[in-house]
Amino acid sequence: MRIWKTALLSLTATIGLSASPALSADKVTASIAADLNNPGPRIEPEIQGQFAEHLGRGIYEGIWVGEDSPIPNTNGYRNDVLAALKELKVPMIRWPGGCFADEYNWRDGIGPRSERPSRINTHWGGVIDDNRFGTHEFLNYSEMVGAENYVAGNMGSGSPREMAEWLEYMTGSKPTTLVKERQANGRQKPWKVKYFGVGNESWGCGGNMRPEYSADLHRRYATFVKPQPGEKIIKVASGANVDDYNFTDVLMREAAGQMDAISIHYYTFVNDWDHKGNATGGDRKEWASTLSNALRMEELISKHSAVMDKYDPEKRVGLYVDEWGTWYNQEKGSTPGFLYQQNTLRDAEVAALTLNIFHRHTDRVKLAAIAQMVNVLQAMILTDGDKMLRTPTYHVFDMYKPFQGATPLPLTINSPRYVEGDKDLPMVDASLARGTDGKLYLALVNLSPDQSVQLATGLKGTATGQILTGPKLDTHNTFDAPNTITPAAFSTKPGRDGTLTFDLPSKSVVVVAIS
Ligand code: AHR
Repeated sequence: MRIWKTALLSLTATIGLSASPALSADKVTASIAADLNNPGPRIEPEIQGQFAEHLGRGIYEGIWVGEDSPIPNTNGYRNDVLAALKELKVPMIRWPGGCFADEYNWRDGIGPRSERPSRINTHWGGVIDDNRFGTHEFLNYSEMVGAENYVAGNMGSGSPREMAEWLEYMTGSKPTTLVKERQANGRQKPWKVKYFGVGNESWGCGGNMRPEYSADLHRRYATFVKPQPGEKIIKVASGANVDDYNFTDVLMREAAGQMDAISIHYYTFVNDWDHKGNATGGDRKEWASTLSNALRMEELISKHSAVMDKYDPEKRVGLYVDEWGTWYNQEKGSTPGFLYQQNTLRDAEVAALTLNIFHRHTDRVKLAAIAQMVNVLQAMILTDGDKMLRTPTYHVFDMYKPFQGATPLPLTINSPRYVEGDKDLPMVDASLARGTDGKLYLALVNLSPDQSVQLATGLKGTATGQILTGPKLDTHNTFDAPNTITPAAFSTKPGRDGTLTFDLPSKSVVVVAIS
């Protein structure tokens, strides 16, 4: 049975036992208290990074359609998706996988496209990948989008030599045979590769390794990930799945000196891996369990960070959440193994809650990559042939752009609870930061499916920004109605005491600038 715990809190508040949030007949109140004098480490723009794997229609159709396609394109890259990603200021793209990375031979994806070999994509649908999209196509695309690149290397089935030669091919400046080959293939000057992943999910699809073996292999492979003189490549170790703290412990103990960052992967299901649930049509119970699972990210980051603190108290090694997002049963009728799913207001809340969590952990979390950018899992963008739509998740990332590079400011959140069956969640989540333009930015999430909240902030000024909400828990965009859910203008003026109070509608995400 669902109850409003707030009712109890309200009673205690009215009899003066605490300053807990209060409930009146139709209004629930909450408050935040900001500490403007204790800024945290910068919110690295890469926290809003994206993941693009050779999976389903993520690369082929989603990004790449080829020069001869009737879909309007620039050098083979579809124009509509490119423009939408540029608008989003995507800070970083991770490629080519995922599981795909540990079967990928980079040499398959260079040279004339018509001569590239065809291979089976064994992980994702068993379809043929003819390697039309390879190293040049990816690195050039990152440049066109204006994003940093994150290349995931093959530690599972490739050799250290292959890894080293790939890097030389991409970044070399002296006229070696490999550099001349790159130049003959159309790229004169070297690319800058900022992040290099030493394998992916070595505990699973990347080799089913024990942490001890994975740590040893990381040490070996990372030795051959060599930056050009005077340059730096950030080496990312393939880290833990979800709450495997021992994996982080062993890798940090044995190999922290050979890495700049370690990854964790965490996906949000409606229930669990065996009961993923559907993207649309869920009830309040599924709404609450999905959001509750998303909030688990806070605990995971805190506990992995605590393990890292044992070996790296200076916090030199970053914790990269380089795969996260919702993972549902794929849409009926879509190709098996393509992980194509719709994206609703619920995904928007998951995205906002997760970004808020990252803002609270900027001491360790310096990069994250939502899975995945186009047409796969919790995507920014969905396409159907020549049609394209922006998902609610896209709109959240768009609203959160001012947080890229901003300085987070600690908040104490005094929120009533939203209780649904055995799920007990805060009704309001928030994060605050000073943007690079000097303005204060406040992000607010109302997790309740039906209760509006009046939120006192104590912050002075006028708030202007956007709200994302919809009439139903699964409000979403379709190719016939691509603007069913889009952000609307939202503003609040100060009250008589000069401070800002927000009326937050149920199931909403708000981002405002305060000036
Ligand atoms: O994002 C889909 C898959 O999830 C990735 O390939 C893999 O790394 C993870 O298990």
